[in-house]
Amino acid sequence: MKRLGASGPGTLGRAAAGVLAAAVAIVGLAAPAQAAEPVLRDLAQAEGVYYGTAVTASKLTGTYGSITGTQFGSITPGNEMKWGSVEPSRGSFNWSGADAVVDFAEANGQKVRGHTLVWHSQMPGWLADGTFSDAELRTIMTDHVTTEVTRYRGRIDHWDVVNEPLNEDGTMRAGKFYNQLGESYIADAFHAARAADPGAKLYINDYNTDGTGAKSDGMYELVERLKAQGVPIDGVGFQGHLILGQVPSTLRANLQRFADLGVDVAVTELDIRMDLPATDAKLQQQKAEFKAVTAACLAVARCAGVTAWGFTDSDSWIPDVFPGQGAATPYDESFRPKRAYYGIAEALGWTGGDDPAPGACSAVYAVSNQWNTGFTANVTVTNTGSAPISGWKVEWTWPSGQSVTQAWNAAVTQSGSQVSAVDAGYNGSVGAGSAVTFGLNGSWSGSNTAPAALTCTAS
Ligand code: XIL
Repeated sequence: MKRLGASGPGTLGRAAAGVLAAAVAIVGLAAPAQAAEPVLRDLAQAEGVYYGTAVTASKLTGTYGSITGTQFGSITPGNEMKWGSVEPSRGSFNWSGADAVVDFAEANGQKVRGHTLVWHSQMPGWLADGTFSDAELRTIMTDHVTTEVTRYRGRIDHWDVVNEPLNEDGTMRAGKFYNQLGESYIADAFHAARAADPGAKLYINDYNTDGTGAKSDGMYELVERLKAQGVPIDGVGFQGHLILGQVPSTLRANLQRFADLGVDVAVTELDIRMDLPATDAKLQQQKAEFKAVTAACLAVARCAGVTAWGFTDSDSWIPDVFPGQGAATPYDESFRPKRAYYGIAEALGWTGGDDPAPGACSAVYAVSNQWNTGFTANVTVTNTGSAPISGWKVEWTWPSGQSVTQAWNAAVTQSGSQVSAVDAGYNGSVGAGSAVTFGLNGSWSGSNTAPAALTCTAS
């Protein structure tokens, strides 16, 4: 019922599209009416939550910037607020990336999740490798929290004050602060953050706590202890770095039991990774899983919102950290919405229609020229479906150590022996039965065996 009163741009856009279609018919222009895309930030707002994304400050222009500003109600700097980013050498600060994210959010009316103040990872070298007395280390930590939170006072909605404090078995993780200061480092960090910005909601955040289990139990007991000590903690973040097919069925119940402790909850770093190449069956399953995670948040009154850890596969940490895996976000590398995006929209009450039926394509590889250490190959991409497609991606694995050195008519990237070729934009649209070709130069030694199979995915 909440949806009926919503009047976001998505709704207006659909109405306006109808008017426009009528107008062009009168003047005789043959422009097909486009169905309006759902706007996640408006849909989420109408449901009383935010939908957010992690961003890379240096990319906030062009298409990346416009999707970030249009679709998301909250942004989180992926790296720019981490200690190693803001204080690379002791006493010398670099706020440029963090400032850029906060400025962007304000210009676009977005919330900011500040991420993160105290963490065992991505610390500056002087801190990670330095030797300090316990008292000195405690002061270094609380001063850092005070300095960073004060800088953005009044401009940050949530701070991830402490990140990843736990081991997989739910015990406290060994790290610089825990090893020297014990568990009290957490209380001290929260007190310093509260004093520096009483208006920000203060979160503790971890991964593999999404479903019930030993690590989630460890977090639950930690939050109980912190609250019993009067530590100013407002929320618990569940990172949500999930694997296709392994989304915990206990997610909603787990979020609810934390909410029942008297804290807000949020899914803070959602991505759902899969073994590459992505197939349409996997992308359909991913859609259902993004939808389920969003629905779990909506089902818990104290769930503040969901943040995707990057909205596009071109800006995701997964391929770097989990070799052979990827396609973990709601948009593809070329900023086209994937099925997952429509899954999120549907969970948020969008009724504008199903995501476009996927097209189908195939790819044929042929070496056209070969010399002592190099070769040229052409790949022909054919639309094998019955409707036009607006984009394509071809993936393969080199069988004998070949390496791409140059490509044309496609954006080609290679990681290990895996190659991914995405249309170049101008040749993404292919009519049913039609074909386009892209080419590459590569190097080889030993043998230049052609890839055994190419996967073609249409969008
Ligand atoms: C990741 C970033 O996305 C990467 O760019 C960086 O190289 C490593 O950190 N949990 C967290 C995030 O809390 O800060 C991490 O972000 C991903 C895991």
